[in-house]
Amino acid sequence: MNDLAGKHIVLGLTGGIACYKSAELCRALIKEGATVQVVMTEGAEHFITPVTMQALSNRTVYHSQWDAREANNMAHINLSREADAILIAPASADFMAKLLHGRADDLLSLMCLARPIESVPLLIAPAMNREMWAHPATQRNVVQLQSDGAQVLGVGVGEQACGEVGDGRMLEPAELLQELVAFFQPKVLKGQRVLVSAGPTYEAIDPVRGVTNLSSGKMGFAVARAAREAGAEVTLVAGPVALATPRGVQRIDVRSALQMQHAVQAEAGEASVFIATAAVADWRPASMAEQKIKKDGSGQPPTLSFVENPDILASLAQSTRARSGALLCVGFAAESEALQANAQAKRLRKGVPLLVGNIGPATFGQDDNALLLVDEQGTRELARSDKLSLARQLVCEIARHLKTDFFQKT
Ligand code: CTP
Repeated sequence: MNDLAGKHIVLGLTGGIACYKSAELCRALIKEGATVQVVMTEGAEHFITPVTMQALSNRTVYHSQWDAREANNMAHINLSREADAILIAPASADFMAKLLHGRADDLLSLMCLARPIESVPLLIAPAMNREMWAHPATQRNVVQLQSDGAQVLGVGVGEQACGEVGDGRMLEPAELLQELVAFFQPKVLKGQRVLVSAGPTYEAIDPVRGVTNLSSGKMGFAVARAAREAGAEVTLVAGPVALATPRGVQRIDVRSALQMQHAVQAEAGEASVFIATAAVADWRPASMAEQKIKKDGSGQPPTLSFVENPDILASLAQSTRARSGALLCVGFAAESEALQANAQAKRLRKGVPLLVGNIGPATFGQDDNALLLVDEQGTRELARSDKLSLARQLVCEIARHLKTDFFQKT
């Protein structure tokens, strides 16, 4: 992916042990297509050398407001005017306090103050000891910085360099990258609450065996990420998969179809959109054996009987909220043949305004997919691409459906 292609990022480093992560972050930004200009405070240079950051960014590093390399000697103006965003990572407690007061006694703070506030966003990745992070002064500063227009990206939890454990670590480079990529996505679902079901379900036969399917959950996780990037609050009800939760998404893990139905129903009351990407098992064993079923020596397999699972999507689509237009239900269809005919029939059968068809065996477990959007107007193909790109296109389609008269009553 090249999600930051054409973006010019000023990466500001202030004094903190997390500076070692900024080297990796710089690389990650460049790999994603961005150009990166590093600006360091004196404190940052105690933790990592400008040589390292220059080599990684392929640009000389700036640190002094008296830098004579700039013809007009105004590095703070020149660097901030060409940036698409300024990302301070790590941002120390001291630097945040400084920003808050509009102080400008080094190049980085001067540049933040001098940036055109409407066109050059400022993103802040705090990094500090847990007591410093929890201190009322820091928390007050976070609130004030946000109301001054900065976006504070939050902190990680865990073991800290000082040996203490708690909140205050800088987010990992991969998390910061996800935040920055999300920042640039259009906010077409702002104000929406999106509920996504994803992955397979697992229907237990006995304590060691069960029935499941080949769904990897990747499409559903990509949809959850894309919805969050588009500004929605997202809850993801996930069947048994080992995928990382997208940043900022609330995840509820379930195993069986009945558990998934329970979780979805509990969350649906708050949602304005339900996207059912899960490959729910159609049947479950009529009863689960309490102990492992053993071979009895007869050579005969055990007789298993199955009952049908409830249709989570169809029953939600029938609910009063969906019927009144307060909940937009979007289905998926995993087919193995005759995609268009099957998907159109399934849309009507499930009673959903929008259904997304795909060929299950061609996509389960893969990183890419091709989709067929089916609605009242007809069908539209989304050409084969990686799942995140497709998810972003689907999110735009959902935003379009939300704008129609019927779905404005939330
Ligand atoms: N679905 C659901 N609950 C079920 C079965 C399916 O919510 N018990 C949802 C899926 O999440 C998907 C849509 O219904 O959004 C279609 O799922 P799919 O497996 O393609 O179809 P089925 O309803 O199982 O129909 P069939 O097996 O006949 O293809």
